[in-house]
Amino acid sequence: MARVKTFNTTDIMQNASKVFNIDDKEIALINCEGKFYAIDDLCSHAEASLSEGEVYDCKVECPLHGAEFDLNTGEAVTLPATKPVKTYPVYVQDGHLYIEMNEDA
Ligand code: FES
Repeated sequence: MARVKTFNTTDIMQNASKVFNIDDKEIALINCEGKFYAIDDLCSHAEASLSEGEVYDCKVECPLHGAEFDLNTGEAVTLPATKPVKTYPVYVQDGHLYIEMNEDA
């Protein structure tokens, strides 16, 4: 496990997202009602960036076909997506957001 420093907490507005690039991955850091989440930015259904979707009720809605993903678990809670997206633990320390990455992530 490696803890990676990303953005300042103030960089991401409420119910908005920002993409963090690490190696060849894109991870969406999402602020939902003041709580922060990290999920893979790529939708599990097709080529769409979840960071461009609407955020509400601890979910993000894919901007392309409207599937909703639970930000806690990454589960696809509405169609057309059926597969989950990967989630990452987020820690706040001294105003910075850290994500926990697996070595194989
Ligand atoms: S690309 Fe996300 S629901 Fe289709």
